[in-house]
Amino acid sequence: MKKNLVIAIDGYSSCGKSTLAKALAKKLGFIYVDSGAMYRAVTLYFLWNHIDVNSDEAVTDALQHIELNFHSRDYESHITLNGEEVSDEIRLMPVSENVSEVSAHKIVRHEMVKQQQRMGKSKNIVMDGRDIGTTVFPDAPLKLFMTADPKIRAERRFKELESKGNNQTTLEEVFENLAHRDYADTTRKESPLVRADDAIILDNTNLTQEEQLEFALERVTALLPQS
Ligand code: DC
Repeated sequence: MKKNLVIAIDGYSSCGKSTLAKALAKKLGFIYVDSGAMYRAVTLYFLWNHIDVNSDEAVTDALQHIELNFHSRDYESHITLNGEEVSDEIRLMPVSENVSEVSAHKIVRHEMVKQQQRMGKSKNIVMDGRDIGTTVFPDAPLKLFMTADPKIRAERRFKELESKGNNQTTLEEVFENLAHRDYADTTRKESPLVRADDAIILDNTNLTQEEQLEFALERVTALLPQS
């Protein structure tokens, strides 16, 4: 049996990881997994249920009551939390403001990594996140590490929020939130955001989505056996 292929895409917040990962998965016929959505959905559950992240016991117990599932419709990934569609709600500020703390928790990470590794066991997948190439799939044959100018990133996320009808958040707030999450992601103790030694850097500050896809596809082609 042929071995399945895992493509790992990591990088800073709002760098366009999911846009590229989705396009790549669509082009290759792979499954797209948004690992950030999992941490966001756990955060939403913690907010809804007033879970104290400082209590390991409360966190362990809460995780046992969380079931996450992805449903893919035309390569847009939708996530359900205990059967409830939460794809839009997990993108809003209350979750964005609390997800760094929740995702830094050792017990939360342990559980999410276990579930992510299961998804990549037998299927061809493109997974994006912060620790995919370093912790979740350290043997992935293709790893991309994405980065872009922080101002451009804030503008992109701001426009995305606006297009979804969210006019309560200012550009400055989005910028501050990204800066905070970059800091928290790169300095946390548990699997911080770092570039894997064998990850290829993709700075997309001045690249179109098509150019990024082309860049990634060239790397994928180089991996496949020539016929
Ligand atoms: O990709 P995103 O911005 O939706 O991710 C939300 C948060 O989840 C991000 O601030 C850091 C965390 N995260 C993580 O710690 N590890 C991952 N593999 C994916 C996301």
